[in-house]
Amino acid sequence: MEAHDHAVTILFVGDVVGSIGRRTLLGLLPRLRDAHAPDFVVVNGENAAGGLGITPKLAREMLAAGVDVITLGNHTYRHRELWDYLDEEERILRPANFLRSQPGHGACVVRRGATRLGVVNLSGNLFMDAGRPCFPEADAALHGLRDQADHVLVDMHAEATSEKVGMGWHLDGRVTAVVGTHTHVPTNDARVLPGGTAYMTDVGMTGARGGVLGVDREQAIRAMSTRMPVRFETSDEDPWLMGALIRTAPRPRRAASIVPVLEPAARP
Ligand SMILES: [Fe+2]
Ligand SMILES: [Fe+2]
Repeated sequence: MEAHDHAVTILFVGDVVGSIGRRTLLGLLPRLRDAHAPDFVVVNGENAAGGLGITPKLAREMLAAGVDVITLGNHTYRHRELWDYLDEEERILRPANFLRSQPGHGACVVRRGATRLGVVNLSGNLFMDAGRPCFPEADAALHGLRDQADHVLVDMHAEATSEKVGMGWHLDGRVTAVVGTHTHVPTNDARVLPGGTAYMTDVGMTGARGGVLGVDREQAIRAMSTRMPVRFETSDEDPWLMGALIRTAPRPRRAASIVPVLEPAARP
């Protein structure tokens, strides 16, 4: 039997925001494992450290908790101490279409049993600061993973819905899933595209729903209403884990289903 002849389940978790997001993720993971038995867990961690970026310590904490791969985004280089770690740790990704001279790498392969999952992190180019175009880099990343992975999950970290939908269609039939991050707001469009690729424009965030994209709402509103600089802190109010659960088809690089995950933090 080939490795890809049986279906596997992938839990993908959207942008973890601050300590409340980390606690929510770590608190809910055991329950989500019991409920859905994911073979792989992939987490976007770009806001894990106080809302901006991630540190090696926090990345190690997530990996130790059973997270298989951490993806990032526009806040990747916020913390200087992460730069070397990005080159050292295979399982933490920054967008593949950043400049080659920037630290880190944009794809990796992890295994569970006989199944190999390739993960690719991309950044959009519209309203985002990525040094190279994402569409040709997506093709190049897949070329790099040829014969290396039974399934491939792409985290498309982008602002514009058009670019994310476009990437879904561009990769349809070539990868198992294209899931979006960065806006922190989940979209209501999870579906398997005709070619067999699971797609969702944005899975949302893991953080305080009582804030504004995870930021304290009084501070966010003050900044928007006064047009003056405000020091942002992450909100602690009403934390939820948001993500998507992808069940693969019993054939390589195709999905059978994708459903959103929306879970309130476990009550103490
Ligand atoms: Fe984010
Ligand atoms: Fe982002």
